[in-house]
Amino acid sequence: MNTLSILLDAFPRPVSGERIASANGLSRSAVWKQIQVLQKLGLKIEGKQNSGYRLLEWPDLLLPEMIEHYRSGQLGHPVYWHDVLASTNTTAKDLARQGAKHGTLIVSETQTAGRGRRGRTWVSPPSEGIFASLILRPEVPTRRVPLLTLATGIALVEALQSFGLHEAWLKWPNDVWVGRRKLAGVLSEFSGELDRVDFVVIGMGINMHQAEFPSEIDHTATSFFRETGQRTNRAQVLAGTLGELEKILPLLEQADTAPLFTAWQKHDRLVGQEVNVIETTGTYTGKALGLSESGALRVALPDGTEKLVLAGDVSIRPHTDS
Ligand code: BTN
Repeated sequence: MNTLSILLDAFPRPVSGERIASANGLSRSAVWKQIQVLQKLGLKIEGKQNSGYRLLEWPDLLLPEMIEHYRSGQLGHPVYWHDVLASTNTTAKDLARQGAKHGTLIVSETQTAGRGRRGRTWVSPPSEGIFASLILRPEVPTRRVPLLTLATGIALVEALQSFGLHEAWLKWPNDVWVGRRKLAGVLSEFSGELDRVDFVVIGMGINMHQAEFPSEIDHTATSFFRETGQRTNRAQVLAGTLGELEKILPLLEQADTAPLFTAWQKHDRLVGQEVNVIETTGTYTGKALGLSESGALRVALPDGTEKLVLAGDVSIRPHTDS
């Protein structure tokens, strides 16, 4: 077990340098060097001659040892942690092309070019949010990949609710909203052929500790902290989300999609709302009817016909009195 895992397990008690050294097969001075590296990362570690090393506060970093501490299943192993990346999705795709295994997770404390859906930017301030991309090699036909993205939205909502954010809801295709503001989003990128999935990269962005946002999005974005007043541990929320996804994944692989639709309906608050739909082919309005079997959004048009939205942008229309 490595130095940080030993300190986490012992928290808040101290561990002697000798014990850490023998558990790792290291010299005492090598342990001291590792402690200095951890301190440089921002971990509060005290060293005392007679008692050893002690974590003074529970860390809020997305380090592999932190995720490992909370992880319950096989997703999120291994974890590649970065202080800064352009985009965890871009790095994840590179790793996947090089053969990274199912369940590999790439996390970064900040992103300089975080990407959202439809070419948008994902604002990624240092250590304020969760910026993570999961590499999956699921045993599903390509046509079921969109359901996997929906499943990630469900996993996010269920995890966030379990940490006290009871008001989190799902907005098609995979946004998590609280009230009329967005809290989390999913960007999935797929590689494969018509009948075969090579890999899917599931990028998750969750606003956690932000007290405010850049002015352009401040009225439409929210964070876990804004909603609950709590600074909940990010590694715990991420591991919780992976745990929820791990429950749904086998169902998708066995083509048992009914529980997924039931879970979606439970959290979907777009149904019955008047929406604006922007697609590459044009813009129209209608009423959201819920998910189709393929994972598209069913929209009732004013002329009584129904349309399936496969990849558009959907916004809720403000209520009018007329
Ligand atoms: C959206 O709602 O538009 C999707 C946002 C997805 C953002 C995450 S942050 C981690 C991963 N890396 C990226 O560049 N994007 C996703």
